[in-house]
Amino acid sequence: MTESNWVPEEVPLDRPNVARMYDYFLGGAHNFAVDREAAQQLYKLFPDLPLIAQANRAGLRRAVVALVEAGVDQFLDIGSGIPTAGPVHEIAQRVNPRARVVYVDVEPVAVAHSRAILQSVPNTTAVRADAREAAELVHRPEVRELIDFQKPIGVLLVALLHFVPDDEVALQMVRSLREAVPSGSYIVISHAATEQSEPDRLSAVERVYRESTSPFHFRSREQIAALFEGFELIEPGLVYLPLWRPESDDDLLLDDPQRSNGYLGVGRKP
Ligand SMILES: C[S@@+](CC[C@H](N)C(=O)[O-])C[C@H]1O[C@@H](n2cnc3c(N)ncnc32)[C@H](O)[C@@H]1O
Repeated sequence: MTESNWVPEEVPLDRPNVARMYDYFLGGAHNFAVDREAAQQLYKLFPDLPLIAQANRAGLRRAVVALVEAGVDQFLDIGSGIPTAGPVHEIAQRVNPRARVVYVDVEPVAVAHSRAILQSVPNTTAVRADAREAAELVHRPEVRELIDFQKPIGVLLVALLHFVPDDEVALQMVRSLREAVPSGSYIVISHAATEQSEPDRLSAVERVYRESTSPFHFRSREQIAALFEGFELIEPGLVYLPLWRPESDDDLLLDDPQRSNGYLGVGRKP
């Protein structure tokens, strides 16, 4: 893909962007110098960041496979990012070729790149929207075209809610989504955690993100658990990323799960 395909004209290049920084953590090519400089500042504070990003993607993959195997065939992937590494439709459609996926991101490069790769992929679409307006998002025609709100939906908020610092706004997002989906739907949340780092290091990370397009906010396990309001956590509950249904003894960071600095949980709407 040439740069002209994935850099929409309106993209501001003067501030690091969290989607493109994350692409850099994962070894992608859809990032600019300003993103790489911010990422390098974060590496000084968290040298494990590339590993953490990979552990997060691996957790996302295992959760999506588990949901498809449980019969879910439609996904709303909110804060989906730049689909560099194993996008959700590839994971889901490998298990169920009829699975449908709507990608949602606020970042123009993420949406443009998603649209470019989805052009010839049936049952997928990419929508640009701010997840904080989840109540409107679920009524967007592009969303309704692919997602049947009468049937169970897998809603993915993976590595998204730490970009929504206000607890009440984050909770309201989850509430709006829960109200919109039918019983038997699932929510997947992964989130950066406070427990393994001293407060100064967490504040330094939050300071780097303050210069970016989205502020960042670590939460404790208890605060993350509170985001599952109205959902029942399925096994194994809210756990460090590598501990969510690992597939083999060799899984990334499984020998030292706290190093992932993030939790993953899947909740079912009763
Ligand atoms: C760290 S990436 C996570 C990507 C993917 N979900 C994953 O876990 O691999 C976070 C994504 O959330 C997006 N994002 C941040 N705030 C958002 C908002 N208010 N609405 C929609 N997307 C948002 C960013 O643009 C970025 O692509």
